[in-house]
Parts: sequence; C-alpha cells; structure tokens
Amino acid sequence: MLTLHQVLARFANSVSLSSSHLHPLFTNKRTILTGLISLLLLSPKFLRLLGLTGPRRLSYIPPGRERVLILGASSGIGKSLAEHYSKRGAYVCVIGRRAVLVDEVVQECRGLSGKEGRTLGVTADFTQVDDMVRVRNIIREEWGGLDTLVVAAGVSALQPLMDVAGAHGITGRNPSESVQSTTEGIQCAKDVADAATKGNYVGPLVAAVTFIPLLQATSPSPSVLLISSLASVIPAPTRTLYASTKAAALVLYQALSIEHPRIRFTHFMPSTVEGDFRASAVDAGPVREQDPNRHGLKRADVARRCIRAVDEGERTVFMPWTMGLAHLAYWIIPGVIEWAARRNIFRLFLLTQNVLED
Ligand SMILES: NC(=O)c1ccc[n+]([C@@H]2O[C@H](COP(=O)([O-])OP(=O)(O)OC[C@H]3O[C@@H](n4cnc5c(N)ncnc54)[C@H](OP(=O)(O)O)[C@@H]3O)[C@@H](O)[C@H]2O)c1
Repeated sequence: MLTLHQVLARFANSVSLSSSHLHPLFTNKRTILTGLISLLLLSPKFLRLLGLTGPRRLSYIPPGRERVLILGASSGIGKSLAEHYSKRGAYVCVIGRRAVLVDEVVQECRGLSGKEGRTLGVTADFTQVDDMVRVRNIIREEWGGLDTLVVAAGVSALQPLMDVAGAHGITGRNPSESVQSTTEGIQCAKDVADAATKGNYVGPLVAAVTFIPLLQATSPSPSVLLISSLASVIPAPTRTLYASTKAAALVLYQALSIEHPRIRFTHFMPSTVEGDFRASAVDAGPVREQDPNRHGLKRADVARRCIRAVDEGERTVFMPWTMGLAHLAYWIIPGVIEWAARRNIFRLFLLTQNVLED
C-alpha cells in the first residue's frame, strides 16, 4: 500500500511533468499550487476532516485520567480552564497567590468533578523557584506524574512607555525639546519593565524548567499550553511592555518546542478577554480601551477552545481565528496593520464580530 508521502510525491511529479511544455510563468504557478495543495493535504486538520486521524492524545490519556496543572487558576481564563477540566473528570491542580481564591476554586472544582481526590490547590507564586519545586513535589506525591501543564498566569501593563517614564506628551508627531525623560523617569520605566518581565517571562521560564522533565518522564503524551496574547505578535500602542514580555515568553516556548519534540506545545493567542486582568497592571494608570466585559471574548469560550487545541495538539491558535489573518497581513502590509492597531480598529472589529456572534 502507498503511504501518504508516496502519493503526494507521485502527484507532485505528475504535475511538474505535465507542466514541462508550458510557459515558465504558468509552470511557476503550477509549482506554487502544488506546494499549497501538498501543505493542505498534509495538515492535521485536513486529515482529521477525512477521518484519517483522530485526536490521538485522547486515546493515550482519556479525559478522566488526565493530570492537569494550571498556573494562574485563582481567577480568569485559568479558573475557567480548571472548571472545564474538572467537569470532564480530570485531575486538576489549581495554583495562584491569593489563598482565599485558590480555596474557592478548589471547592467549586470538587463540586463539578463529582469524583473524590481529583482536585488539589496550592498557594504559590510561579516566579519563585522554591514555590514551583514545592508544587512539583506535591504533584509527584499525589498523582505520580503530570500530563498537561497550563501556563495562564501573567500581568498586564497599560501605559505608553514614555508615559511610564514621566515624559508625557512626546508620543505622536509633536516632538518637543522641552520634554525629556529624567533619571527618575528612566529608572521608573526600568522598574516597571522588571515587574512585567518577572510576571510574563521569568514565571513561564521557571515553570518550564521545573515541569518539563516531570512531563517527559511521567506522561504517555505530554502537553504544554501557554496562554500568550494577540499582542505578542501584533503589538499595540500602550502595550509596549506587555506585548514585548509576552512575546519573549512565546519565543521561549516556541524554542522549547523544538528542543522537546515529544511534548506537544500549544500557543494560544486570544484578543481581549472579559474579566479583571487589567487590575494586575504593573504600571497602574488610566486604561485606554473600553470595558473588556462588554466587548471581550467570553472566558468559558476561551477555555473550551484551549482544551480542544490541547486535545488535538494544535500548535498556534488565534482567537478569533480571523486575527491569524491579521498576523499574516502584518508581514505583507505592516504599515496598514500598524495604522489599524494605532487607531484601535481591531477592537472595533472584534466588538462588531462579538455582537454579530451573540
Ligand atoms: N484578559 C485579557 O484580555 C487577555 C488577552 C490576551 C491574553 N491574556 C493572557 O491570559 C492570561 C490570563 O489572563 P486573565 O484574563 O485570566 O487574567 P486574571 O484574571 O488576572 O488571571 C491571572 C491569573 O494569574 C495568576 N497569577 C498572576 N501572577 C501570578 C504569579 N506570579 N504566580 C502565580 N499566579 C499568578 C492570578 O492569580 P493570583 O493573583 O492569585 O496569583 C490569576 O489567577 C494572562 O497570561 C494574559 O496575558 C489575557
């Protein structure tokens, strides 16, 4: 029987042979077309559509046996993920720094799971090495290993960088000699950048170094889900520090996925999500955008899409998916995308899309 690769090779061969008498421009078009069709045929989504592959991970780890650690589950997307995983019977470990909220989420998950001994809660900071080693010891002792690591924790930063440095009024097209950043202002920008780096880059790094060896050694199909952000690939004004620190973590995990091919990495890029994320801003100040609870994605929808992506081993997921096209366009027509980001046009687009979907 022919393998899929052999079928594709024959198909590509036949197309290039039959195109040998054609005009070179047409031949090139044929080659490009062949490449695109081959890519489409090889894509896991297409094979799944044809019923040739299933979500393989679920056959190794049925939902009721999955051991899931969620860093940053005391509120927001992480909390919603804990609830959804509990509902389908998984073992769930809830992590956050606010002990009261961690306890509340644990109680809720126990109610949803309906099975004894499935939920753990640990008050811990994912940027602290001792805390993460403590969490790893508890998981080893209680579950004997780990299948899914979710890195949902993160901090926001909301101001234009020059505003953080106290050099207000020099953004835009009105440069003024009279406005200069002071030593204190530059120091302040550095301190805020340190806090953003700690919450958005150092935490994911400590988590990866602590848990990757455990995942590799104890899971038949290890997975890592990083909740990144659309801002990490299409930066927006007032998101200078947030976008750059989230981008650093994204590239860290992309590089780790090359170093650890046995682990399935999912990088999830939502646009604005409902909730209280902006309260965690490391540069507290006025918020530019409208209330995310009115126009943001619903946390439950985000959690469901995340779980599907992990089950199916998807690598990069944009939500809404149309933002993936905007990312592609950023390479082709960067000026247009930057213009749209500067004028908050994406948010307008998302608002319209959410209203249409409601
Ligand atoms: N909300 C949005 O619009 C949006 C859009 C795109 C991407 N995202 C990303 O989605 C992720 C979750 O955001 P969210 O909207 O769910 O925000 P959230 O409600 O503020 O949740 C953040 C969670 O992370 C935890 N956390 C923060 N720092 C931590 C630390 N050092 N150690 C342990 N836990 C920590 C918080 O708990 P404690 O405070 O109790 O520690 C909380 O449970 C973030 O990574 C964010 O960048 C959010």
